[in-house]
Amino acid sequence: DQTRQIAETLAEFRLTKEQLLEVKKRMRTEIQNGLSKNTQSTATVRMLPTYVRSTPDGTENGDFLALDLGGTNFRVLLVKIRSGKRRTVEMHNKIYAIPIEVMQSTGEELFDHIVYCISDFLDYMGMKNARLPLGFTFSFPCRQTSLDAGILVNWTKGFKATDCEGEDVVGLLREAIKRREFDLDVVAIVNDTVGTMMTCAYEEPTCEVGLIAGTGSNACYMEEMRNIETVDGVDGRMCVNMEWGAFGDNGCLDDIRTQYDNAVDDLSLNAGKQKYEKMCSGMYLGEIVRNILIDLTKRGFLFRGQISETLKTRGIFETKFLSQIESDRLALLQVRSILQHLGLDSTCDDSIIVKEVCGAVSLRAAQICGAGMAAVVDKIRENRGLDHLDITVGVDGTLYKLHPHFSRIMHHTVKELAPNCNVNFLLSEDGSGKGAALITAVGCRLRQQEQ
Ligand code: BG6
Ligand code: GLC
Repeated sequence: DQTRQIAETLAEFRLTKEQLLEVKKRMRTEIQNGLSKNTQSTATVRMLPTYVRSTPDGTENGDFLALDLGGTNFRVLLVKIRSGKRRTVEMHNKIYAIPIEVMQSTGEELFDHIVYCISDFLDYMGMKNARLPLGFTFSFPCRQTSLDAGILVNWTKGFKATDCEGEDVVGLLREAIKRREFDLDVVAIVNDTVGTMMTCAYEEPTCEVGLIAGTGSNACYMEEMRNIETVDGVDGRMCVNMEWGAFGDNGCLDDIRTQYDNAVDDLSLNAGKQKYEKMCSGMYLGEIVRNILIDLTKRGFLFRGQISETLKTRGIFETKFLSQIESDRLALLQVRSILQHLGLDSTCDDSIIVKEVCGAVSLRAAQICGAGMAAVVDKIRENRGLDHLDITVGVDGTLYKLHPHFSRIMHHTVKELAPNCNVNFLLSEDGSGKGAALITAVGCRLRQQEQ
């Protein structure tokens, strides 16, 4: 009976093909709402224009600085791009910590810290007085009016520094640079999805989609200008940062969300927001697992019915632990030792149940992520009037890279839900900083042409 009740609980996470097709269809509707002039102001999937009008063509050249803020690591990078017959990209980077206090303090403190890191990096590279063009990967929703202006719509994931929402982030960075009395030329602000797409497109020209399955979840792709009603002009294409994490914020996924999803949302920094992201990204999967475990413990099915302090602690199940627990190579004894390491005393039966819970949560995550991607590639196919589309998706993110099953299930779901598309997933080896530098190179060239 206990086994049946646990199975019933986990069955809430099992979606049928019909339900997944429905998720795909709803994503398609939201994409349309985000692109159309009369629905855009209330659209949940915002479809933000990026002012990136083409993928790299190999003529990009020069030395650039890049910042990469918003994922697991904050990096400062020096990227040297050489065009010509033997194109090369040389990268140097340093990772810096952003303490939680800084992430959640004032905008001024956050940006001062960022600029402090840039100046430390320049010291470290022995290039103190270089005035290099800079590309800023900033992995949050920004309303852009050009390559180098982006108003932060709202923070997502773990950030909540004050006085930034509604402000131009490039302006905030430039002011902080001035406060430190040095000189840098900020040329482009870039979402991580866009940076990832560009990084991969440099090697593989058929890459016209970017996907992040990491701390957060999001995608971008090359949309036809004629369909982007919020930007003037009808010729050519522009990359659109979908901000698909907010899919479902109007309630359109409520029929598949569970009480555990509600609990995760309620306890988050941004309740009511990013509902799709909270079902399929690394920052939240562990929280869904934890909430299910609490419930099963309350019902007496786990941990001898004792809810420990550890189990009450937010964020204990990081992506890397979930990934280890679900690894097929791991014996149950090792699962127990991971739980032990997290401070959870488990029996052998407990560890079996925990592994099942993790499996159910990550399966749903990979499937709904795949359903979203199926909507995107089918849209591109229809844009181009094709019966069949071959396309490459550049991907990055800890969940995609570390989890033993996520990528495979996601690929499989896309294949099943978008049978007329042949989608090749290309893992980004160099992060989004390289892509940001490539965009900066183009930005510099355009500026010179305007002069
Ligand atoms: C990397 C980027 O490519 O992927 C980061 O350089 C980005 O900026 C990241 O946010 C996503 O992964 P995660 O798992 O660190 O959020
Ligand atoms: C969040 C951000 C988005 C970013 C994604 C992946 O959803 O809002 O801009 O691309 O996380 O890092």
